[in-house]
Amino acid sequence: MTAIVSIKGLRKAYASGMEALKGVDLDIEEGEILALLGPNGAGKTTLISTICGITMPTSGSITVGGHDTLKGYRGARQLIGLVPQEISLEPFETVWSSVSFSRGLFGKRRDDAKIEAILRQLSLWDKRDAKTMELSGGMKRRVLIAKALSHEPRVLFLDEPTAGVDVELRKDMWETVAQLKADGVTIILTTHYIEEAEAIADRVGVISGGRLLLVEEKAALMQRMGRKTLSIELTEPLEEIPDSLGLYDLEFGPDKTSLLYTYDRNAERTGIARLIGDLTEAGIVLSDIATSQSSLEEIFVGLVKEDGA
Ligand SMILES: Nc1ncnc2c1ncn2[C@@H]1O[C@H](COP(=O)(O)OP(=O)(O)O)[C@@H](O)[C@H]1O
Ligand SMILES: [Mg+2]
Repeated sequence: MTAIVSIKGLRKAYASGMEALKGVDLDIEEGEILALLGPNGAGKTTLISTICGITMPTSGSITVGGHDTLKGYRGARQLIGLVPQEISLEPFETVWSSVSFSRGLFGKRRDDAKIEAILRQLSLWDKRDAKTMELSGGMKRRVLIAKALSHEPRVLFLDEPTAGVDVELRKDMWETVAQLKADGVTIILTTHYIEEAEAIADRVGVISGGRLLLVEEKAALMQRMGRKTLSIELTEPLEEIPDSLGLYDLEFGPDKTSLLYTYDRNAERTGIARLIGDLTEAGIVLSDIATSQSSLEEIFVGLVKEDGA
């Protein structure tokens, strides 16, 4: 795979002195869906706006399809479609004219067949003559996507496409995104919903306080989520973990009357039965056991807290 977007050492300080991006390095692969997950104020919109050339970087560089976003702005921008966080449409304009007007803005030749294909794909064809103000919220968002796709970009940015949207519409949006990916469009979306990243992303980047804390294949993150912890309560506090239990990688809980055993939920053998046998063998008496699971939510909260944001 080749990187269609490449970001190196990107920093952005606003005139207010606010450092919204503190050195971001990121390669986005052609054809992937990347979810940028982060709390409000993390820098997600700043990152997207900078890639799209709307916000000027303080330092660092970005290329899109090999074009530098500053020196080769037109070439880079041509490859990008942007769906902004806020809905902004001309209320009296029809769906058809707002989408074909957007195409014209990019200096692309009029192509009614292309506009029709986009409207059909987004289930807007029946609404082509409706004024945008007559549309439901979900349809307005789809018009924004149609506008962003009108000049046939290779990379589509969706800034919080489902913020404040109900569950049904959120699922529709996920389906739309999956279809666009099938058409070969590279998709970067920002979200503060963990389940959204889980549902549609190929890779997840966690952003907080202007830093990209991790970028990882979703499958690998899920693998980590697959880890479970068994917490074993003891009747007596233990001075130290006996050598005979060294093999298990046990840790003490908050005090010395509990032991924590972490294992892979997906493993064929968890080793729990043998561990309990070996604990008894070592003369340790258990009073209770309980399991807990690490989730993407925990990984996320842990990371963001560590970062001090
Ligand atoms: N135009 C601006 N001028 C000054 N500060 C800004 C501006 N836009 C965003 N910020 C600040 O930069 C930080 C990141 O904002 P933003 O990129 O919008 O985050 P997110 O999209 O993740 O919520 C926030 O602290 C925000 O207040
Ligand atoms: Mg934002």
